[in-house]
Amino acid sequence: MSKTYRAGLVGCGGMGSHHLRVLNDLPEFELVALCDIFPNAVDKSGDEYSVEARYLDFNQMYDEANLDLVTVATQTRGHHAPVVAALGRGISVMCEKPIAIDLIEADDMVAAAERSGAKFAIHQQNHVNPGIRKAQAMVAEGAIGDVILVRGRNKAGRKSGNEFMEMGTHVADMMLCFGGTPEWCSGTVYSEDQPAGPTDIMEAKEMSPRDRDSGLVMGTRAIAHYGFQGGIWGETHFINYAKTMSENYGVDVLGTEGQLAVRASANVTDNLWHLPRPMEGAPVQFADWQQVDLSDVGLEEPVVTMYRRLIHAIETGAQPPSSGEEGRWAFEMMMAIYQSHREGGRRVELPLVDRRHPLEQWRDA
Ligand SMILES: NC(=O)c1ccc[n+]([C@@H]2O[C@H](COP(=O)([O-])OP(=O)(O)OC[C@H]3O[C@@H](n4cnc5c(N)ncnc54)[C@H](O)[C@@H]3O)[C@@H](O)[C@H]2O)c1
Repeated sequence: MSKTYRAGLVGCGGMGSHHLRVLNDLPEFELVALCDIFPNAVDKSGDEYSVEARYLDFNQMYDEANLDLVTVATQTRGHHAPVVAALGRGISVMCEKPIAIDLIEADDMVAAAERSGAKFAIHQQNHVNPGIRKAQAMVAEGAIGDVILVRGRNKAGRKSGNEFMEMGTHVADMMLCFGGTPEWCSGTVYSEDQPAGPTDIMEAKEMSPRDRDSGLVMGTRAIAHYGFQGGIWGETHFINYAKTMSENYGVDVLGTEGQLAVRASANVTDNLWHLPRPMEGAPVQFADWQQVDLSDVGLEEPVVTMYRRLIHAIETGAQPPSSGEEGRWAFEMMMAIYQSHREGGRRVELPLVDRRHPLEQWRDA
């Protein structure tokens, strides 16, 4: 190994702790500085990982700690400022999902990465999940013929407004892994049994106080269709079932000759199934799904692969998996549902022309 990367963290909360464990365990990184606005949060993490350089201000940390890389694990409203400030100083960034609270912020973050030369990744870790990587290889080998439809599968347990921001971009990211670049979206959002309207627009925490501060949301149920370049279709729905079903979370890829099903919540060593025919048939025939051996793609924890690929990107100039641009597409797929719904479910072209939050535009109109 040629270099040890000096890593810092902004946001010593729940997800920050997860990143700290990984950064501390990986020999490629030296954990050198931590930042949180609350002294007790930064001290708790600092004590746990014996990190002496502790800050309450990320700008000061960037100026003093000589970082190669920073992880931004604040809640969504707090992503833009520390990301742009790091990229502006040539520090590479691993930022939590969703990229931002609107596309204006997301554009600014992607532009900051382009100017900087430093690398910018969004922690949509399923992008490198072994099941996803193996499924991509099987698609490339022609195992299911030509891809026709990519179906994103949500966990439920939330109203759609919250689910867009909490799980939606993960699901969109998995769809992007097989669909490629999205060209249009058609979406419909209901609030209970009625089409949602401007009076249903609210802050994410107003919709669910247990969820995070991720900007404006609307509605309890939603359905969306997408067209990707090359004629591949996408579909996903957010049904507001009260109970979370993690086993449902993932992506299905339907081809002319077969299907693949990845389940992102399953153990990453066995989370891909193959059906060697295009249509499922009666429920009794579901047993024909065959589990796929993943050992040839490597069974590393996805977050570890994300960090190792980010280093590879820094060293080679390649883009990291789930780059800022890809993270923006995943987020834009959620914003487009609102825009299409506002226009009566009409197909809206992507990228969206007006970069303001579609719900902010609607509320203010
Ligand atoms: N990729 C995943 O699987 C996954 C899973 C869970 C959460 N997340 C994402 O992780 C992010 C954080 O979620 P969480 O539940 O850990 O939140 P959290 O509230 O537990 O932690 C956020 C921390 O950031 C700190 N903070 C806020 N503003 C700050 C600032 N300006 N400078 C420094 N620190 C600041 C807070 O004090 C808090 O300690 C969210 O974007 C969430 O969507 C991702």
